[in-house]
Amino acid sequence: MDRKTIVAASLLSADFIELGKECARAADGGCDWLHFDIMDGSFVPAISFGGPVLKAVTDVSKLPVDVHMMVTEPVRYVKRYAELGASGITVHVEACKDVAATLAEIKALGLRTGIALKPATSVFEIEEYIPLVDMVLVMTVEPGFGGQAFMPETLPKISDIRKLADSFCPGLDIQVDGGINAETAKLVRDAGANVLVSGSYLFAAGDMSAASRSLR
Ligand code: DX5
Ligand code: ZN
Repeated sequence: MDRKTIVAASLLSADFIELGKECARAADGGCDWLHFDIMDGSFVPAISFGGPVLKAVTDVSKLPVDVHMMVTEPVRYVKRYAELGASGITVHVEACKDVAATLAEIKALGLRTGIALKPATSVFEIEEYIPLVDMVLVMTVEPGFGGQAFMPETLPKISDIRKLADSFCPGLDIQVDGGINAETAKLVRDAGANVLVSGSYLFAAGDMSAASRSLR
């Protein structure tokens, strides 16, 4: 299947003082989605931002806002974040007591539904959820911080998921997140990923259009 690459700009690396302008820069720079990382200081050590900032972004953004929840028991927040304008919500398999119920709640709200796995989590742990989601997020760094180096040992998981999906969910989106730049983008695309999150590489670029093109 010929898949179009979707580029999602991770706002974690934006200049927060200029957040509105940074959202516009991503849209003008040819990005397809904004990626919004919510961290709770429990599932991951860091705390990032939550509902009020999400509302500010969805109020001004022309692009769909893809929420990545690095939060313990994210089901507590999905309804609220749907009301605040998220277009999709991805939860971590390691963070949910009842993964299927959490995914069903996201889907019932009419949002794109995603399941994420950390670098140390095996494909076996998410296999049963593939038919329930629009997207699998393969973390290519340890979740929690922007600007980390890509972990090449995650590549076989991307190709394993693509192979699995080809048999029963050919339209599945496979997202990667962490250390994505022009070089690593080629590796993950060749492995079968089609939704590329990039933070520090895109926002540090003087020319975001050229940077986003280099990921495709
Ligand atoms: C990390 C976040 C990422 C982060 C990626 O836990 O999920 O979205 O912003 O940043 P870069 O592209 O700099 O690795
Ligand atoms: Zn993320």
